[in-house]
Amino acid sequence: MAVDIQQRIEKLRQLIRHHDYLYYVLDAPEISDAEYDALMRELRELEAAHPEFITPDSPTQRVGGEVREQFVKVRHPAPILSLGNAFDSDEVRAWHERIRKLLPADTKLQFVVEPKIDGLTVVLHYEDGLFMLGATRGDGETGEDITANLRTVPSVPLRIPVRTDGPPPPRRLVVRGEAYMRIVDFEELNRSQQEKGEKTFANPRNAAAGSLRQLDPAVTASRPLRLFTYAVVASEGIELRTQWEVLHYLMDMGFPVNPDNALFDDLEQAIAYSEQWMRKRDTLPYEADGVVIKVNDLATQESLGVVGKDPRGMIAFKFPAREATTRLKELGINVGRTGTLNPFAILEPVRLGGVTIERATLHNFEDIARKDIRIGDMVVVKRAGDVIPQVEKPIVELRTGAEKVITIPQHCPACGAPTHKPEGEVAVYCVNPSCPAQAVQRIIHWASTMDIEGFGERLAQLFVDHGLLRDFGDFYYLKREDILKLPGFAEKSTDNLLAAIEASKNRPLARVIAALGIRGVGSIVAETLAQYFHSIDELSRASPEVLQSIPGLGPVNASNIAAFFASERTRQLLEKLKRAGVKMEEEAAPRVTTGPLAGKTFVITGTLPTLTREQAIQLIEANGGRVVDAVSKKTDYLLLGENPGSKYTKARELGIPIIDEAQLRAMIAGKAEAKGATQLSLPTE
Ligand code: IVH
Repeated sequence: MAVDIQQRIEKLRQLIRHHDYLYYVLDAPEISDAEYDALMRELRELEAAHPEFITPDSPTQRVGGEVREQFVKVRHPAPILSLGNAFDSDEVRAWHERIRKLLPADTKLQFVVEPKIDGLTVVLHYEDGLFMLGATRGDGETGEDITANLRTVPSVPLRIPVRTDGPPPPRRLVVRGEAYMRIVDFEELNRSQQEKGEKTFANPRNAAAGSLRQLDPAVTASRPLRLFTYAVVASEGIELRTQWEVLHYLMDMGFPVNPDNALFDDLEQAIAYSEQWMRKRDTLPYEADGVVIKVNDLATQESLGVVGKDPRGMIAFKFPAREATTRLKELGINVGRTGTLNPFAILEPVRLGGVTIERATLHNFEDIARKDIRIGDMVVVKRAGDVIPQVEKPIVELRTGAEKVITIPQHCPACGAPTHKPEGEVAVYCVNPSCPAQAVQRIIHWASTMDIEGFGERLAQLFVDHGLLRDFGDFYYLKREDILKLPGFAEKSTDNLLAAIEASKNRPLARVIAALGIRGVGSIVAETLAQYFHSIDELSRASPEVLQSIPGLGPVNASNIAAFFASERTRQLLEKLKRAGVKMEEEAAPRVTTGPLAGKTFVITGTLPTLTREQAIQLIEANGGRVVDAVSKKTDYLLLGENPGSKYTKARELGIPIIDEAQLRAMIAGKAEAKGATQLSLPTE
């Protein structure tokens, strides 16, 4: 039995590692998220029931480090060098001339070109294939130990896979790479930070660096970090002759390597490829500030030596900065779906990174005040990758005195209702829940999250203006004849829209949760919630304490979620969606359904003698039962601890069997039937 379980656990780990590799390293997943989640859940449950089989390289162990007070310093095995820069192709040619002179005349040079990702250098140590230590670059000699944080990054291999057909993992391998955040993930993170009233990041690099230098690894785990590797810093038992071999070796060992790296036989080809990247930089999914051109032969690189901290054998060919100056003509304000007032600058049109821009974000009113940005100012505007252009700073020297200071609006520009700035938050809110501007945003958010094809901002505004939609619940009650009356709608487009709305009734639970537009609940938090709750009903009953106990959720999230579901408007909206047949639960929830507690629903109240609430939930779920938050007629058992709450009274009223921790354990061990367990000697109130 134990052997079977151990084998199953190992099998699950292999499968999960394989699919992690396909997803995070090769970017080519072969199974759906739900299938993956089911594997992970089964592994978690087996490990919860058999903690003796947990190993540090199990995929479940990515989160779990403790909160630290400070980082420990680590010495690098070899200096972590930096790079010299070239700002145009002639400077690259000049570098080539310089190194040519230092080499024997007949040396034939090849070059590897690698996109230079703007992230944070990390150094990863493996011993016998196991990830042992991860550090930041620091000053190049010593960095900081961020092992627990790096373990949470899914593309960091926790072990180098042992392959029957390949060489064994090296005794020791120290790899250098860049941890980074994709632009879309960065934008999503900033959106969710802003909604939570927490600090936003200026660019993906800062977001990656800030996320990795967290004292609490659980915070890092919630951030969408990725990795590319490009160098072997130290090793034992392997010999690599060229940079190109290094990249292939890293790939073979399961490390993520940028697929856009390329090898060239002469410098002009390498320059042409680099310039092609420069033109394509806006299409890259990540922020790159240039390319690195490296001499391919490692012995030649070595022989070229180092100037200061820069090895002569490679050079960073930097992309031109994307900054421009223009005049801030006016202040615009968007009202977001949670009521946030988002200030933006209306600019005199200016060319930037190949496009003309007329608007740029001003982030929030605190930022405006801190940078002292005024209407009429000449300002520096920046654009990084696909990221929305932003106003960087005013050019104070160019002021004429006619500039106007920007103040926090006292009234919502869309509906005129008063605004509110909660203590400790940067955001300013419109307090009117019926504000039409918020409604439009919520409708857009619902349509895009629930994949109602073709329904964007323009249509949302049109439908709201014509009184057809007041909230997203109205989608499911739209009448064909009403839509046909709208400008631009013919029979076919109307039917297409109605079909798209109909199709949206069947989205996975995580999507529905995300689509509700709860403050702070983006797709990541929604995924987490959908793993813990199997219907919107169940989620709506969860108390802030229960929500807060979920990894990845903080007190602000928890109270926002609880407040959202406590509102009468939400209740009506959910009712409306339910009545229309929008699916609000996960039908085939991938959970353990066999075991001694199969099919039984538990409610827990009070403090248990040895188990925390979380452990009790895990124990019950691992044995096939489920735990819900509120007592109802459908509850099979109340698990009772010390100082129980109102759930105890309710369970007694409903005549629900009441058990204690010992009886729960007995049920799991198959020793006792807990029926009629109500006669526990407890004080009657
Ligand atoms: S090579 C001696 N390759 O750029 C090795 N660096 O400005 C020097 N970077 O600190 C680094 N992608 O953080 C190299 N493919 C790549 C890179 C890369 C990003 C970063 C790295 C480095 C910085 C130097």
